[in-house]
Amino acid sequence: MKGWTASDIPDQTGRTAVVTGANSGLGFVTARELARHGARVVLGCRSEKRGAGAAERIRAQAPGARVEAAPLDLADLTSVRAFAAEYKGDRLDLLINNAGVMALPHRRTADGFEMQFGVNHLGHFALTGLLLPKLLEAGPGARVVTVSSFMHMLGTVDPRDLNMERGYRRWVAYARSKSANLLFTHELAHRLRAAAGVRLVAAAAHPGYAATNLMSAAPKMEGHRAKERFMEIGNRYFAQSPEQGTLPALYAATGPDVRQDDFFGPPLQGLLRGSPIRSARARWTLNDTAGRGLWAASERLTGVRYEALAN
Ligand SMILES: NC(=O)c1ccc[n+]([C@@H]2O[C@H](COP(=O)([O-])OP(=O)(O)OC[C@H]3O[C@@H](n4cnc5c(N)ncnc54)[C@H](OP(=O)(O)O)[C@@H]3O)[C@@H](O)[C@H]2O)c1
Repeated sequence: MKGWTASDIPDQTGRTAVVTGANSGLGFVTARELARHGARVVLGCRSEKRGAGAAERIRAQAPGARVEAAPLDLADLTSVRAFAAEYKGDRLDLLINNAGVMALPHRRTADGFEMQFGVNHLGHFALTGLLLPKLLEAGPGARVVTVSSFMHMLGTVDPRDLNMERGYRRWVAYARSKSANLLFTHELAHRLRAAAGVRLVAAAAHPGYAATNLMSAAPKMEGHRAKERFMEIGNRYFAQSPEQGTLPALYAATGPDVRQDDFFGPPLQGLLRGSPIRSARARWTLNDTAGRGLWAASERLTGVRYEALAN
């Protein structure tokens, strides 16, 4: 995958993708590039207005793009269920679990989960499980790609305190939620491998550091103008573009040699910039017992069971 860019994405005509959090940052670019290469793309966005605006911008930037927005709030399982129930596509080839929040002050989802764990992991766990029947019907090249972060290295999932009731630390909560993304991919990959005749592949990606709205969401929420400004400066001088940051997820979704449980990111030796490679990951994200435990807890908390992959 040396030198791989978005122009290397193979033709996606006839395929359908769902991209969560597609109205801004990496999700927007992912959706645009998939659409530019012929896929029909459904933008899962929590704001209908921002979703419709993104669809319009994609059509302007990629004429002929087949995109539509649908409401999806990952902080509310009722909304996740409604999105899956109303999913109209007769097929689904790619699910890109991209939406995310980072280092928020303590908040809870509509269902009472800690917000970062709830949105980044549980919402996507539920969505993937609900869309699984469609993904399993898809042809070769079907993928579930979950966007994690290199910052997962800063914290493992604590099975006794998934919602961080014993003292909330916002960056630790983020790191744990991103470790959960990888553990989820690990266990999903394991179950897909074990199921007979399944072509669906579960992989993950991280963007390095890319200039998006992610960093300013928390300062904005708290009205902390100085912190917001600091994040803007970081984005301007140190981050790579969202176009560059999206390449690992696009490779995981469309690359030719993607295997179960692969994790792509920009090279560490390139200071987390450049074309995607198979990325280093914390050993705890490859732990089978932890993966099974998180899976069981996620099924219990969301009420979504992966019947087709039960073991
Ligand atoms: N940028 C980086 O350097 C970086 C580094 C490592 C990992 N990542 C990961 O990359 C992914 C994309 O983030 P980004 O950098 O592109 O940030 P972004 O520009 O802030 O985009 C995040 C997207 O997620 C959506 N979102 C937030 N809460 C949601 C909810 N409850 N339901 C549905 N959608 C929701 C946002 O919607 P609104 O616009 O409505 O808020 C937005 O569309 C995240 O998973 C993040 O953890 C990013």
